[in-house]
Amino acid sequence: MEWPVAILSPSEKYNLITDCVVPRPIAWVTSIDAAGKINIAPFSYFNIVSSEPMIVSLSVNRRLGQDGSSEQKDTALNLIHGGDCVIHIPSHDHAPAVHATGSGTPPSQAQIDALGLQFSPSLQVKTPRIDNCAVALEGRFLQHIEVAQPIVADLILVEIVHIYAADDLLHNERVHPEPYAIAANKKP
Ligand SMILES: Cc1cc2nc3c(=O)[nH]c(=O)nc-3n(C[C@H](O)[C@H](O)[C@H](O)COP(=O)(O)O)c2cc1C
Repeated sequence: MEWPVAILSPSEKYNLITDCVVPRPIAWVTSIDAAGKINIAPFSYFNIVSSEPMIVSLSVNRRLGQDGSSEQKDTALNLIHGGDCVIHIPSHDHAPAVHATGSGTPPSQAQIDALGLQFSPSLQVKTPRIDNCAVALEGRFLQHIEVAQPIVADLILVEIVHIYAADDLLHNERVHPEPYAIAANKKP
């Protein structure tokens, strides 16, 4: 089968590219807004850019605002203006909460409480960590690239400054997160 991309609809493009580029890790990202409120959202357009210095990328797609204009998502705004975040690698057990925090609207405090999510202070950034995640990467905002014209995504580069991994992931001084890998996702 061959697919010239130029003839595909947006949903066909989405299905094809996300079906072909697998597996995609999930970054479950906490960030804080100007008032200090914690925001949580999952991102699968996430990967390593460099190990020295340690840099990862998050592609935060623009969403359509009520007036039809493209709007930055809260995670992008918080990172660009607030300067840091924590990227968690969720486990199977977190799948319902990951999906609940990836819906269109930011989770309210009541929703966060209902999901049973709790937070602890990070060691090197202002944004708190989600408790009971096997891996937490504390990161500082490094660079922002507005992608395409009109802009379709905010590509955010984050420098990782501190890493937590649960002790039971460690074997021979390396981190082995396989038992914690989240189920393959079918969303961006
Ligand atoms: C599993 C999963 C993966 C997702 N990956 C992405 C992604 O890579 N980029 C993106 O822009 N949105 C992605 N989303 C949607 C965002 O999580 C969703 O738009 C979220 O509400 C953004 O929250 P924010 O406005 O608080 O940043 C994903 C959703 C789910 C459930």
